Amino acid sequence: MYKISFIGMGYVGLCTAVCFADKGFKTIISSKDPEKVKMVKKGKPPFYEPLLEELLEKTIKTKKLEAIVGRKKAVLKTDISFIAVGTPPNSDGSVNLKFIKETSKEIGQALKEKKNSHLVVVKSTVPPGTTEKLVKKNIERQSGKICGEHFLLCFNPEFLREGNAIYDTLHPDYIAIGEHDKKSGDTLEQVYKQFYGEITPPIIRTNLPTAELIKYANNAFLATKISFINTFANICERIPGADIKKVAEALGKDHRINPHFLNAGLGWGGSCFPKDVKASIIFSKKLGYNPILVQATYKANQAQIQFTTQKVEKALKTLKGKKIAILGLSFKPDTDDMREARSIEIMKKLLKKGAKITAYDPMATSNAKAIMKEKINYASSAIDCLKGADCAILVTEWEEFKKLKPEDFIQNMRKPILIDGRRIYDPKKFSKKMRYIAIGLGES
Ligand code: UGA
Repeated sequence: MYKISFIGMGYVGLCTAVCFADKGFKTIISSKDPEKVKMVKKGKPPFYEPLLEELLEKTIKTKKLEAIVGRKKAVLKTDISFIAVGTPPNSDGSVNLKFIKETSKEIGQALKEKKNSHLVVVKSTVPPGTTEKLVKKNIERQSGKICGEHFLLCFNPEFLREGNAIYDTLHPDYIAIGEHDKKSGDTLEQVYKQFYGEITPPIIRTNLPTAELIKYANNAFLATKISFINTFANICERIPGADIKKVAEALGKDHRINPHFLNAGLGWGGSCFPKDVKASIIFSKKLGYNPILVQATYKANQAQIQFTTQKVEKALKTLKGKKIAILGLSFKPDTDDMREARSIEIMKKLLKKGAKITAYDPMATSNAKAIMKEKINYASSAIDCLKGADCAILVTEWEEFKKLKPEDFIQNMRKPILIDGRRIYDPKKFSKKMRYIAIGLGES
């Protein structure tokens, strides 16, 4: 079995590394951050992700996974290195490639010293052309070696969702391999065949820029699907009795559409869709093409925030001095990640209009505090959050919120008004007892 290293200890790096280690590969994960490495060595993940902690503990204990500081060492001790460093957005939405630059240079320096061949696999999401023009160039320059002859190179996008990262790593729908040359692609295909065995998913092999584009197209398509259903949700709201949930249920039965990613709500957030949709627009424009559909997807998502605060305003007449309860802060359930969370924009807009906010999240409160500081109050439970509120907004569909009953709102709020931003409650049960306003539901 190949020895594998992962450069980068974020969601992608760490979740994929523990899965490789658990499958029996000798795996090394490296980070520049000694604090993170210290935690991981103790079997403690630096962020919350279901199933990660137990796999990490196990693979550290069995010594299948080793955490180290420094990229060079990781490369020298292994046969294959996956680059899984962050590619954060610049202020204009373009992709910041500084970590890719640094990493590829250091890999090049390591390869200069290494006798055997090495496969470098870029997993970070990068604009088309980056692997060929930046990664390959840097490695060749630093190592004095030739790609395809002395070392191998692939781009291999990841499709894991936060909150489902381990499951998604173990059960992908497909694997895309962008290969610099046939040997590079053959080697990576072999690795995945060792990893998945009999359940190896379909493997799509192509050139480097096509694989880089697959990642952006995949995310832009999913974001478009959500913005599409949200558009029809907004239409439903203007038709008494119309319900987007039924519309989505019906569309999902058409196998050409499928039922996934058709949950209407407050829109998409997180560290991927907003960044990748914006990046797609920017690199397309640089190529002389204006991707109007992707732009509309983005704009529709922005508008969803405004529509939500308008709902609150309409229900309360004015927001000045009104107490709003925010249920859920993270960008989606089962994660403590607050990056581009919808809650942030919604709260900022409400605060601007003079509302007072109390929020509760089962996991993301400390990350939210770093962003919202003292501008809002933080509750210790959902019920605590509802106390004395004039309106509640369900922002993130955590399991524990699904258990709340109309009585919980009626008994604790000053005025029981609920805006169900993720359609988790039964309108029949709720609207009988209290003011229930929901995304995609035309009030009769
Ligand atoms: C997304 C993709 O789903 C992954 O395939 C991809 O690997 C990842 O980005 C990435 O590029 O790294 P992630 O952002 O972790 O994964 O989570 P999603 O489950 O896709 O949710 C993104 C946002 O869409 C969340 O805010 C969620 O609430 C929203 N969403 C999702 C909806 O509003 N409706 C839906 O039906 C589904």
